[in-house]
Amino acid sequence: MSTTDNGPWWRSAVIYQVYPRSFADSDGDGVGDIDGIRARLGHLRELGVDAIWMSPWYPSPMADAGYDVADFRDIDPVFGSLAEAEALIEEAHAAGIRMIVDIVPNHISSEHPWFKAAIADPEAPERDYFWFRPGRGEHGDEMPTDWRGEFGGTTWTRAPDGDWYLHLFTPEQPDLNWDHPVVRAEFESILRFWFDRGVDGIRIDSAALLMKDPSLPEVSAEKHPFHDLDGVHDVYRAWRRVAEAYGGDRALIGEVWMPEVERFANYLRPDELHAAFNFDFLGCAWDPVLMRECVDRTLHAHVAVGAPPTWVLSNHDVTRHVTRYGRADTTFSFDNNLDNTPVDLELGTRRARAAALLSLSLPGATYIYQGEELGLWENENIPPDQIQDPMYARRGHSRDGCRVPLPWSGDEQPFGFSTATPWLPQPAEWKDRTAQAQTGDPSSMLELYRSAIALRRRENSPEFAWLELHPEVLAFTRGENFACVVNMSGSPIPLPDHQTCLLASGPLDGDRIPPDTAVWLRL
Ligand code: NOJ
Repeated sequence: MSTTDNGPWWRSAVIYQVYPRSFADSDGDGVGDIDGIRARLGHLRELGVDAIWMSPWYPSPMADAGYDVADFRDIDPVFGSLAEAEALIEEAHAAGIRMIVDIVPNHISSEHPWFKAAIADPEAPERDYFWFRPGRGEHGDEMPTDWRGEFGGTTWTRAPDGDWYLHLFTPEQPDLNWDHPVVRAEFESILRFWFDRGVDGIRIDSAALLMKDPSLPEVSAEKHPFHDLDGVHDVYRAWRRVAEAYGGDRALIGEVWMPEVERFANYLRPDELHAAFNFDFLGCAWDPVLMRECVDRTLHAHVAVGAPPTWVLSNHDVTRHVTRYGRADTTFSFDNNLDNTPVDLELGTRRARAAALLSLSLPGATYIYQGEELGLWENENIPPDQIQDPMYARRGHSRDGCRVPLPWSGDEQPFGFSTATPWLPQPAEWKDRTAQAQTGDPSSMLELYRSAIALRRRENSPEFAWLELHPEVLAFTRGENFACVVNMSGSPIPLPDHQTCLLASGPLDGDRIPPDTAVWLRL
């Protein structure tokens, strides 16, 4: 695991998100697990990724697919055991792959011992680790605030003793009180627990939500009561000190949804987080002008604080980008529910291939969500009675369509994922999308990703400059002799002068680049 010209690994890594429920099932219960991941590590080694980010694998009642953690120092039996997790970390390291675990500091499970103690006895010290408040109105039966939850719906639930407790997500995810020193000390200890086990990085869930205004004002245009409060930065300064004590190679990566790029960059100051997900890019339309503005905005914001940009197209919360890029509206936001609007999967796939070359050649770190390398699309046909995502009831949009188990091999479901029926249904059409079917086929998405990641290791100059070719073409150089050209216009454009075409996302039209196609060129 080497450090390149680009500095420490986290500045330029290709990081692969494993969603453990849906990666590979070793014990035949229809749910993915750690031994399934261990058995398929070869896939990630051949893909060439530098690190795995593991979505939560801790004991959990699974009210929010594991983002409701009951014990941060163990593994849920559905996924395996702590010993298996330790073995995976060791085996990944032996394969040259780093490990990032997911920590959820904003809330814990209502089954966590702290919350159980707080509910059982209003006088318990654990009560202060949460946000318990009396209700409004004569009988205290109105919620303390009208705050809207992050999944939609309300944010308070009444405890049996009459007080209300705050949850920005589901009632099974009570929010922690980050003004309390015990809460802070506990999470620093959890970080050490995983760093002590050799983990190389931490992905921080809902990183901007931790602090709340204790006077509980309503949301106003001037000041939000819980989005991005200044006090949150002290938490991450303390976490940075914990990480640095392990020698400076351990990374903190924030999930920071933030429209204002300056506020976003505050999280990446040199004594705070190492990196954060670029949701601006993830939500950006397939449009040359908007995409270029987004890249510029990203680069400027990160230069200002000396942090590496990140490039993210999909994750376990958002519509898979093959589907997104195949719609008339190619943006993503939780507020523009585009479920079941018409999709041209062929167009979406063509653009997704071009986007792979774009996101793997921009400077910084690139994230791949499992299945993206197989060209999977969103399963929009999950029967409503099989939907498990708690967001569905609150917003009418489910994230399950991007969480469907991976197709590995064979012609029929469950495509080598399991010997049982998978926890969510796979489309029959995925028989052409299995890792087995794509291996060795030079025109496949999988081979495109493998080639691109291998080439990227050599073509990763720290320099970046735009090339002005055409108003609807995104083109840039990385150093003296490498260029990426993405044709986002509706017609073919001539290939610019070059020595060799290193890689193309689709067939070229003679010496022209067809629409929605990207090339990597040796200049
Ligand atoms: C962000 C996670 O990515 C998402 O899956 C989860 O539901 C929320 N945070 C709450 O933890």
